[in-house]
Amino acid sequence: RVDRAIRPRMLDDYIGQTAVREQLDIFITAARQRDDSLDHTLIFGPPGLGKTTLAHIIASEMGVDIKSTSGPVLEKAGDLAAMLTNLQPGDVLFIDEIHRLSSAVEEVLYPAMEDFQLDIMIGEGPAARSIKLDLPRFTLVGATTRAGLLTAPLRDRFGIVQRLEFYNIEELTHIVNRSARLMGFEADEGGAIEVARRARGTPRIANRLLRRVRDFAQVRGNGRLTADIADKALNMLHVDRHGLDHMDRRLLLTMIEKFDGGPVGVESLAAAISEERDTIEDVLEPYLIQQGFMLRTARGRMVTRLAYLHFDLSPTDDIPDAG
Ligand code: ADE
Repeated sequence: RVDRAIRPRMLDDYIGQTAVREQLDIFITAARQRDDSLDHTLIFGPPGLGKTTLAHIIASEMGVDIKSTSGPVLEKAGDLAAMLTNLQPGDVLFIDEIHRLSSAVEEVLYPAMEDFQLDIMIGEGPAARSIKLDLPRFTLVGATTRAGLLTAPLRDRFGIVQRLEFYNIEELTHIVNRSARLMGFEADEGGAIEVARRARGTPRIANRLLRRVRDFAQVRGNGRLTADIADKALNMLHVDRHGLDHMDRRLLLTMIEKFDGGPVGVESLAAAISEERDTIEDVLEPYLIQQGFMLRTARGRMVTRLAYLHFDLSPTDDIPDAG
């Protein structure tokens, strides 16, 4: 995929997430100076902000290989044992969606993380035996959308915990310009800013929109990314001036039209828009909350005055401002 070519490979090429970058730079440099492996690292944050990219960068910066898997793929203890026994000293084991590990697999992970010991039962009944094996020192990099989804014992075993935040317009403009350059697509400043503004604070979305805007520029324009071309292409894609897409608008409008702006429980909301609760919590609401369009309260989700105004509707007096 094209994504591969435009993904940054080293920390120096990684734009934004300044605090995360600075900390990782120090921890990686220190581990390298001691000729040690990097401590186990948990990266959390909404989808598309660069968790997987950072895992790869950590391996590149440490000069080691990365072996990747994900929580749902590791069904049995033996699946994790196979990954662990395949590692070279210092390697990164990347587990995406690490909150979706079964408890049987988590049990194998604890001694592996803590003492680099594989401790596993083979067989069943009277013939069952426990096997212990030394593992090479390795770095577990775990990624999840929300740190709160992890069990406490798993969370506690990560020495480094990093939270990714939504990118601001300036950072996204930088990313769009970089990606456009790597795609051989000439970008005006105004064009890059327009894509950045409408990318939901998310590099993955910025890069996806950029590819569609490039198609539009090629067919309807002169091949250049201009503000006008970006605006027309993004309108065609139903990405509004705030970067909200069809699903975002559906969520907010459902809260306004069916629930008087809330408060409404997330399960009722999921049923009303026929989406998974997880999609609302992981994908949709983090950006809408960050932008001040909705709130999470003890009584449920509520839209804000800003959401009403976004749709040219008049909020009643009981509709709150953003927190
Ligand atoms: N592409 C996707 N995310 C990026 C980032 N944070 N920096 C540079 N390029 C990116």
